[in-house]
Amino acid sequence: MKTVLITGATSGIGQACSELFLKKGWNVIATGRNNQKLDMLKTSGASVFLLDVTKQTDINNLVTYIVNNKITIDVLVNNAGFGQFGTIEETPDEKIRAQFDTNVFGMAAMIRAILPMMRENSSGRIVNVSSAAGLTSMPGGGWYAASKFAVEALSDALRWEVKKLGIKVAIIEPGPIKTDFAETVHNNIVIPENTPYGSLVKDLTQSTNGFKGGTVKNCAKIIYKAATRKRPRNRYLVTKEAKLIKFLLFILPPKIMDFFVIRMFIPALELNCKRYK
Ligand SMILES: NC(=O)c1ccc[n+]([C@@H]2O[C@H](COP(=O)([O-])OP(=O)(O)OC[C@H]3O[C@@H](n4cnc5c(N)ncnc54)[C@H](OP(=O)(O)O)[C@@H]3O)[C@@H](O)[C@H]2O)c1
Repeated sequence: MKTVLITGATSGIGQACSELFLKKGWNVIATGRNNQKLDMLKTSGASVFLLDVTKQTDINNLVTYIVNNKITIDVLVNNAGFGQFGTIEETPDEKIRAQFDTNVFGMAAMIRAILPMMRENSSGRIVNVSSAAGLTSMPGGGWYAASKFAVEALSDALRWEVKKLGIKVAIIEPGPIKTDFAETVHNNIVIPENTPYGSLVKDLTQSTNGFKGGTVKNCAKIIYKAATRKRPRNRYLVTKEAKLIKFLLFILPPKIMDFFVIRMFIPALELNCKRYK
């Protein structure tokens, strides 16, 4: 029986992935920070492990558990992540660092912990959940996008580095998916009083809330495909919004793309700049 290790399995895409892999007969090691939700996954048949990807001791304990139980990790799904929204100027340092600690350094720590075991077996697959925000940045979401651009860069480098070692790497690029993601964005958002950026960040979250959003089930199916196809693609776009962004980036000159982004997000900013000049 093959084994998949999933981070951030207690909600949204990670939870749907755990359920799908279980249904397909895999041994699932579902990890996350929420004990109660992990218990629910355990009831469904998963092995569960309490793990915050920003805590190296949690990762070390997981590796010890894997080694002691002689488990072979066939697939690592690096899914844990969240969106820190706010302008580049106004988002506090500690929030920016927390964003990178989870989305980038947490993911890297998981890869660096599991990769030696995959290398030893000359086999394994790493599926990294990026975002459409890893394709293009957005005003008010620059720090989140920067973290996902970093995910794209490290995944590409890794894919090339491990190609000859029997390990494959795929990137998942979802557009909006209906999960708790938006609520977490809302809880973490930074909009100081008297901001010179006006309603920019609020408008961004409202306009992204307006997207219909894909389903976690469909996203999980695509992750499963990336995990099991003999020759996985380098990248998998999920949702029509992600596909449209990729298409527009391909066909439009950057200045024209700027025009659309500004039309979409900036009217509030322009009004406020006039007021604050
Ligand atoms: N939903 C979207 O529209 C969308 C679009 C593009 C990309 N994505 C990406 O998809 C991934 C999953 O997000 P989702 O939409 O499924 O959102 P979600 O429902 O909020 O799930 C995020 C999961 O990540 C976990 N997590 C966050 N920080 C963690 C940490 N430090 N250590 C371990 N687990 C942590 C959360 O655990 P807790 O419950 O303990 O917080 C939760 O289980 C993220 O990487 C996100 O950036 C989502």
